[in-house]
Amino acid sequence: MHKKELQVAIDGPASAGKSTVAKIVAKNFNYIYVDTGAMYRSITYKAIQNNINLNDENKIVELLHKTKITFTPGNPVQHVFIDGEEVTDKIRSEKVTNNVSTVAALPLIRRELVKRQQEIAKDGGVIMDGRDIGTTVLPNADLKIFLIASVKERAERRYIENQKKGINVTLEELKKEIEVRDYKDSHRKVSPLKKAKDAIEIDTTSLSIEQVSDKISSLIKKRIQK
Ligand code: DC
Repeated sequence: MHKKELQVAIDGPASAGKSTVAKIVAKNFNYIYVDTGAMYRSITYKAIQNNINLNDENKIVELLHKTKITFTPGNPVQHVFIDGEEVTDKIRSEKVTNNVSTVAALPLIRRELVKRQQEIAKDGGVIMDGRDIGTTVLPNADLKIFLIASVKERAERRYIENQKKGINVTLEELKKEIEVRDYKDSHRKVSPLKKAKDAIEIDTTSLSIEQVSDKISSLIKKRIQK
């Protein structure tokens, strides 16, 4: 019997553990993992490189139409390329992180990236993480997960990640950055961060990565058997 290849949506606020968990789950099922945040980060990075005003929607969308964003699998991180140039680390800089919400709020940018995301996911066998996957990109996804965690916990996770990369930002600053990004992501006009009605919420605050990925993997197994 042909195994059903699901579309799995994982949404939630910044640093809730989405990408770490999504990658593990994708590997368990041999599914494609798509980090949609990396797509918003990539166009933000390219706009900054081109000295484009980040509120200039027409200029940025024109740039996006000429931009190819691709991924290749990797461990522990997936590799991201803009027009063939690797930007995996560059798109995680503080500058991109603190400006990406502005670009992600532009309707024409969202329209184009959502279209690309739907194209990648159309045949299933995909775990896609973001903010609007369950509500907008894949409203008929077979499984929708909404991951949350306290601001304190998320800032601590980012702090540890930054330390490893040699980035020095205080815990207090990280908390503020996360709060600002949460606010912008959940209050923008076009597809704000919101839990889909049929999403299963998992609070990862006191759970290990393994516990969360096991939970999601067992939900997928149940859906496959349906
Ligand atoms: O998941 P992340 O932190 O890499 O996402 C970067 C930004 O992109 C985040 O501030 C919100 C935005 N984003 C979005 O608006 N919609 C998505 N599907 C994914 C990310």
